[in-house]
Amino acid sequence: DAADTEKGTYDHFMLKETDEQPFVIRKIIQHYQDEAEQIKMEPAIRHAMVNADRIYIVAAGTSYNAGLVGKQFIENLAKIPVEVHIASEFAYNMPLLSEKPLFIFLSQSGETADSRAVLVKIKELGHPALTITNVPGSTLSREADFTLPLYAGPEIAVASTKAYTAQMAVMLLLAVDAAKGKEITLDFNPLQELAIVANAMEVLTDQKETFETLAQSYLSVSRNAFFIGRGVDYFVCVEGSLKLKEISYIQAEGFAGGELKHGTIALIEEGTPVIALATQSSLNHSIRGNVQEVNARGANTLLISMKGLEHDEDAFVIPAVHELLTPLASVVPLQLLAYYAAVQRGADVDKPRNLAKSVTVE
Ligand code: G6P
Repeated sequence: DAADTEKGTYDHFMLKETDEQPFVIRKIIQHYQDEAEQIKMEPAIRHAMVNADRIYIVAAGTSYNAGLVGKQFIENLAKIPVEVHIASEFAYNMPLLSEKPLFIFLSQSGETADSRAVLVKIKELGHPALTITNVPGSTLSREADFTLPLYAGPEIAVASTKAYTAQMAVMLLLAVDAAKGKEITLDFNPLQELAIVANAMEVLTDQKETFETLAQSYLSVSRNAFFIGRGVDYFVCVEGSLKLKEISYIQAEGFAGGELKHGTIALIEEGTPVIALATQSSLNHSIRGNVQEVNARGANTLLISMKGLEHDEDAFVIPAVHELLTPLASVVPLQLLAYYAAVQRGADVDKPRNLAKSVTVE
């Protein structure tokens, strides 16, 4: 489809791809749903999941960050222990493997050399591998035993957006299907909840001016920025900070809210931008405590919360989605903040310096 590889009315592919996320999620629902509106999954993949005593997710960059959330899905729903590993480290610092490991390679391109090196190694050891990728037919997809497509369409901007949310959506369905295979009863319908996420994403991408203004007031002239969150919000903070540094060159870091006092808080000065996420009811009180701590030291805090958990002072409230699925919605404001900060600073959004879309050398 030519439209997939053209910018159309957009200034940048990154903004176009951010906007495409609701459609990608709906496409995933469509492709992974059978006539009975149940999850459609190859029996061999369910079997591999159910039989694994431990899952090792291996990935790089944004895909690694999606893996951190994938671990939550698989452990929470399917009750299988999961480790998430940076591909380039795994190659020489291999963890002790369990007896029946299953490897999941997460890769937008399916060509990342660091991930491929691990795949080659674990295949030599005789372990099964599943690749989740946006490029069917890619090296990682061909060389693994199983593969699941993301259906996100070509992602052209170097900074990954729709592949990240698609990876999380597919891992959710994989986790739910494995739970079913283990006869674990779940109290929610994942396909329905993903449809709610798609609608929430649309509400968010419809508010671009708001994020443009917020980027202007919090990030356009700052030399650094911190992202804080707890639980899954922390993982989204890590991804949000990666987006910001990749394209705007602002030094940014994501931190676990409770860890601030053990070091990072020393960096907070008058006016330091802190972006905080509060989407988890059980953590709402404690993350707000961390916000008070940084505010007391002069931070300029932009708090993003979720409908139902919001307080008057919050800078932005995302629509309510299922608590497990908040990363798919809460990352959208962070993508848009990074985008507008980069544009305001005159950076080359789609082709940031020193970065490549896919890194095929180790
Ligand atoms: C490169 C890109 C990143 C990407 C990473 C992993 O470094 O610049 O955006 O997240 O590779 O790529 P993959 O295709 O394996 O997901």
